[in-house]
Amino acid sequence: MPSDKLTVRGVSKIYSQDRGQVVLALDHTSLSVQEGEFVSLIGPSGCGKSTLLDLVAGLTTPDSGEILLAGQSIVGQRGKVSYMPQSDVLFPWCNVVDNVIIPLKLQGVPLAEARAEALALLPAFGLEKFAASYPYMLSGGMKQRAAFLRTYLCKKDLMLLDEPFGKLDALTRMQMQGWLLDIWQRFKHSVLFVTHDVDEAILLSDRIFLMSPSPGKILVEIKIPLSRPRHPRMVTEKTFIEIKRELMRWLETGIFAQEEETSWQNKEF
Ligand SMILES: Nc1ncnc2c1ncn2[C@@H]1O[C@H](COP(=O)(O)OP(=O)(O)OP(=O)(O)O)[C@@H](O)[C@H]1O
Ligand SMILES: [Mg+2]
Repeated sequence: MPSDKLTVRGVSKIYSQDRGQVVLALDHTSLSVQEGEFVSLIGPSGCGKSTLLDLVAGLTTPDSGEILLAGQSIVGQRGKVSYMPQSDVLFPWCNVVDNVIIPLKLQGVPLAEARAEALALLPAFGLEKFAASYPYMLSGGMKQRAAFLRTYLCKKDLMLLDEPFGKLDALTRMQMQGWLLDIWQRFKHSVLFVTHDVDEAILLSDRIFLMSPSPGKILVEIKIPLSRPRHPRMVTEKTFIEIKRELMRWLETGIFAQEEETSWQNKEF
């Protein structure tokens, strides 16, 4: 029986906004990520995906519910997971190596040691020729890989990735998906990945959690039975298209029948 690396149970989050207004960003949301599993979270803009990742990363605290890492509460605790936030940016005044070693410096690793460790990893992240380059000299895909390497160097077993390929064109995005699959198969972290892209979620994931429009809750959990290793070509396979049809149906259900009461449901193919 596989064990949960991450358990999010019944989590709600209310934000206070201007002029006394409050927003229910998450409404009793539950999900899990197992050891070594790749899980994606899909949902419309504003449904609370980044809020959920901020909560797991301990940047903010829930109004109710539990967040457990390997069975231990991590509510409000930073530094327990590796987190690449949606708006992750590289410092323009640092070159690639000095950008990616920031987590190591924060952990107190001596500079020379941190640089040596990053340099050894640059080839796996396709950045070996760009160690001394500044962010303005990099393509969008290279910047994302550098930001991802920085997240990787946080060295936690669970990685939270918030739309890491959101700003990339379709072709670069496809290359990055192939690359991420390769890295994940090599390093086998547990991953919670946020995306708006249905194809991307199916291609990368073991399971997908689909969220309703705001206030976000989980509409459905879908297991992806595609074999591994995966390849971007799989998007044309029959099983892939069947899963996509089912996901699209759920997305439409969630968006057009928002008031309809939906609960935890498991869908297997
Ligand atoms: N710090 C904050 N203070 C007040 N309200 C917030 C804050 N952060 C998010 N919200 C609100 O919470 C809701 C969920 O926002 P969140 O950023 O989690 O959505 P999202 O699903 O990540 O959206 P997107 O797909 O556009 O990134 C939105 O209504 C947003 O306005
Ligand atoms: Mg977001």
